[in-house]
Amino acid sequence: MDCGFGRWLSFLTMKPRKAYRLWLAFALIFLSIYIRLQPISVKLKLIGNSHGWHGNISILLWHWPFNISYPLEGNVCLNKYGIPRCLLTANRSQFSQADVVVFHHHELKYAHQKLPLHLRRPWGQKWVWLSLEPPAVNQNVSGYNHLFNWTMSYRQDADIFLPYGSMIQKRTNETFHIPEKSSCLACWVVSNYKNEHNRSKVYHQLRKHIPIARYGKANRRPLGKEHLLPIIGRCHFYLAFENSIAKDYITEKLWRNAFQAGTVPVVLGPPRSNYEEFVPPDSFIHVDDFKSISELASKLKKLASNRTQYQLYFKWHKDHAVHIFSDWRERLCQICKKYNELPSLNVHHDLQGWAMR
Ligand SMILES: *[C@@H]1O[C@H](CO)[C@@H](O)[C@H](O)[C@H]1NC(C)=O
Ligand SMILES: *[C@@H]1O[C@H](CO)[C@@H](O)[C@H](O)[C@H]1NC(C)=O
Ligand SMILES: *[C@@H]1O[C@H](CO)[C@@H](O)[C@H](O)[C@H]1NC(C)=O
Ligand SMILES: *[C@@H]1O[C@H](CO)[C@@H](O)[C@H](O)[C@H]1NC(C)=O
Ligand SMILES: *[C@@H]1O[C@H](CO)[C@@H](O)[C@H](O)[C@H]1NC(C)=O
Ligand SMILES: *[C@@H]1O[C@H](CO)[C@@H](O)[C@H](O)[C@H]1NC(C)=O
Ligand SMILES: *[C@@H]1O[C@H](CO)[C@@H](O)[C@H](O)[C@H]1NC(C)=O
Ligand SMILES: *[C@@H]1O[C@H](CO)[C@@H](O)[C@H](O)[C@H]1NC(C)=O
Repeated sequence: MDCGFGRWLSFLTMKPRKAYRLWLAFALIFLSIYIRLQPISVKLKLIGNSHGWHGNISILLWHWPFNISYPLEGNVCLNKYGIPRCLLTANRSQFSQADVVVFHHHELKYAHQKLPLHLRRPWGQKWVWLSLEPPAVNQNVSGYNHLFNWTMSYRQDADIFLPYGSMIQKRTNETFHIPEKSSCLACWVVSNYKNEHNRSKVYHQLRKHIPIARYGKANRRPLGKEHLLPIIGRCHFYLAFENSIAKDYITEKLWRNAFQAGTVPVVLGPPRSNYEEFVPPDSFIHVDDFKSISELASKLKKLASNRTQYQLYFKWHKDHAVHIFSDWRERLCQICKKYNELPSLNVHHDLQGWAMR
């Protein structure tokens, strides 16, 4: 009985050259079976060169962030945002054909959504870990090490950088008009008020010197979305105080509440140099620019009483506009813009380390 199996196994003791040929044959057989099992899009990618992928990229959103869904009928990325070859779906049955599967962290952590670890991940499929929260909120993501290929976050060092807003070249020639100002010097909208927040301390010191109108759930003066910007627009300054201080963590408090409302932001957040990576240096006032809060207050009073100086903070409106993503669909379509530049083989083994950095 040494004719069949014995001979098969004899390559273990063969001369290296002969064994090498056999190993090669095995490898080729396995590879061809493997490729045959893959979906067509992956096959094409294996054959074609990875940096010139011109087919459709299909993105599966495993669950909607914060359980708010939007319609995906038609070619949303193309028709709404002009991004071609980018197909969004939230239909989990499409898993085996998806090039990218996106998981929003909040639901994994708080809404009992689970990763589909029981499904066979097609070769080449990328899993994206998506979160727009700062490290203080995503304290422990160690359970998600070794699972994701790409990260998507407000951080510039994420694979897919997704800021809360950005300044873009102005496309119209409309001149910007600073909204009519009331006597109100500064205003602040806050929904999550905590006395121990650093920003609350700054607020309490500042209001000893200047009047501050406070709105929001925390103050039983909630503002509906449609009233928010016009009301803020009447204030000279807006307190764009972040509730967590982290690099690149610059939220809609700056982009929407201050800039879009047509007021001057007074920011508390990462250092001025970090803000200047995103917006012109003379478009905002940074709390850190002043030795004391009373100095900050005098500066604000001075600016509010001198139109010439105040107007300088709006110079950027001449050739820039603010862009804020309309909803999660537009954010997800951004993946396609970056797709060909991203590493095609990648694993975030230490997501926890990265998320805490
Ligand atoms: C890409 O998707 C569009 C819209 O679904 C479809 O019409 C087109 O045939 C697809 N192209 C390829 C190469 O699969
Ligand atoms: C998500 O929303 C849907 C309807 O929009 C609802 O049926 C479902 O219970 C919600 N899920 C959670 C976890 O809140
Ligand atoms: C989801 O995809 C499956 C498989 O492609 C399809 O049969 C099903 O009709 C789709 N469901 C919806 C709601 O579009
Ligand atoms: C972090 O989460 C993992 C699993 O998700 C858990 O095993 C671990 O105990 C947690 N660590 C801390 C410090 O909470
Ligand atoms: C704005 O641009 C349009 C064409 O792009 C031009 O017709 C119009 O005169 C311009 N208006 C002003 C105020 O420059
Ligand atoms: C609170 O904010 C002020 C102003 O930005 C800063 O100087 C101070 O270091 C901060 N304190 C803490 C504990 O973060
Ligand atoms: C306002 O500021 C400008 C420029 O700094 C200065 O020339 C002007 O005298 C100031 N006006 C008043 C009323 O203080
Ligand atoms: C994606 O990450 C997984 C780790 O969970 C890894 O097995 C797989 O090879 C990676 N795929 C790509 C295309 O990088």
